[in-house]
Amino acid sequence: MDRPACRLPDEGCPTEKVRQVLRRRKESDFPWESGRLFGYVYHAGDTVRQVALEAMRHYLSENALNPAAFPSVLQMEQELIAMTAHLLHAPEPVGVCTSGGTESILLAMLSAREKARTERALPNGSGRVIVPHTVHPAFDKAAHVLDLELVKVPTAADGRACPERMAEAVDEHTIMVAASAPCWPWGLIDPIEAIGRLARQHDLYFHVDACVGGMFLPFAPHRDQLPAWDFRVEGVSSISVDLHKYGYAPKGLSVLLYRERALRRHQYFTTADWPGGLFATPALAGTRSAAIIAGGWAVMQHLGRQGYERLTASVMAATDRLRRALERTGKLQVIGEPDMSIVAVTSDAVDLFELADELALRGWVVGRQQHPASLHFILNPLHVPVINHFAEDLEAALRRLLHPPAGKKMRHMATRLSARLFGKLPAPVQDRLFHWAQRYVKATPGGRQAPMYGMMGALKANKQVEKVLSDYLDRMFAIDCAPCGKM
Ligand SMILES: Cc1ncc(COP(=O)(O)O)c(C=O)c1O
Repeated sequence: MDRPACRLPDEGCPTEKVRQVLRRRKESDFPWESGRLFGYVYHAGDTVRQVALEAMRHYLSENALNPAAFPSVLQMEQELIAMTAHLLHAPEPVGVCTSGGTESILLAMLSAREKARTERALPNGSGRVIVPHTVHPAFDKAAHVLDLELVKVPTAADGRACPERMAEAVDEHTIMVAASAPCWPWGLIDPIEAIGRLARQHDLYFHVDACVGGMFLPFAPHRDQLPAWDFRVEGVSSISVDLHKYGYAPKGLSVLLYRERALRRHQYFTTADWPGGLFATPALAGTRSAAIIAGGWAVMQHLGRQGYERLTASVMAATDRLRRALERTGKLQVIGEPDMSIVAVTSDAVDLFELADELALRGWVVGRQQHPASLHFILNPLHVPVINHFAEDLEAALRRLLHPPAGKKMRHMATRLSARLFGKLPAPVQDRLFHWAQRYVKATPGGRQAPMYGMMGALKANKQVEKVLSDYLDRMFAIDCAPCGKM
């Protein structure tokens, strides 16, 4: 990749030049169309992409901030909320469109906090939110921003939230419980009915995070065998559903649904004393892209229920094939009984991060997780034609790990030993070594990351790892400029 240009060019570039530069730069991105990337991209095919693009072109300049000026944008937004609410059996179509799962979760927690503050005179900084430890970090971020305390409770032996442990954690400062349908790390739906009973018993706000499952589970061939997880469960106050995941909408679109209007009012922001005029927004952002709303709306209209059912059935069939391939190895164990197209595996026979590196050398990018160390697979329609090929490469990668050539064996041992020693070094030395490891990862084709994960695993305190992560972000945005304005 070329170095970033640090100045606005004095003279504008012709369109063709801009196009060329973009095309050239994109060559450094991962070719996700190959289906070799697990995560980040949800692709329903080129026709669906064209439908979204065309709708977005029509609405590139319009702003969802002003529904009076752009009533057609408001209508699409209302229909996105209504369609999603209907799928999730909401008693009425009440919700709001947001920029993604993180914003939806943050707004649900804001509503819970404001409800508690108005109804229970909750002192500032005292609200507690009880969740299983598998919930998405968006909950941690929201708790941080909203000055709430997030209490994480271990899951049960089956990997799902444990309602009894959650009940034990409830005290007089608790305002909310939350759970996932399903959780991202292991693809397991938490016992929503039991947590709903807990919420009703203690009069708590209950949010279900269906960011990843909300546009998949209602269409899954096995949907009738799943335990209830949506608004049919009494006690559920709100549900987040990301349209930019399995809704196949452009990135930047999620819906937060509420059981009743009164709950939604807690998240509104209004002010009447600004010299710029009266101001009211339903969600966090001010200006909002009408293009993304239009793109998402067009995709949902185009696919319809049958389109989503077709896509979901094919992704589930590929997931079943993947699961059988993982289990067939005899070296990998699937975590729990996954409910949809997410599968995670642990192993006591191989180093999983070395396995991920071996797969990367063969062109596959899989998720790496911790507590326990596991590999993460999330499938979308792009994986359907390539999953058998993945299974062959997985076998080859495992063979290589279990019977490495002499030099490689030494290198694996050295990696493990250095990770252990790394944990005992003083923090400044760890910092330098970590910096070096990151450069090494960047420079290695296929992205060998096992040494870096080994180092992270050797750090004892979470705070130390978090500092390393902040340093990483700092370095990522340390801009090394190209000579003036050169593209
Ligand atoms: C279950 C779950 N919740 C929340 C989120 C956060 O969504 P976003 O990345 O759109 O903010 C994700 C993202 O993967 C998720 O899987």
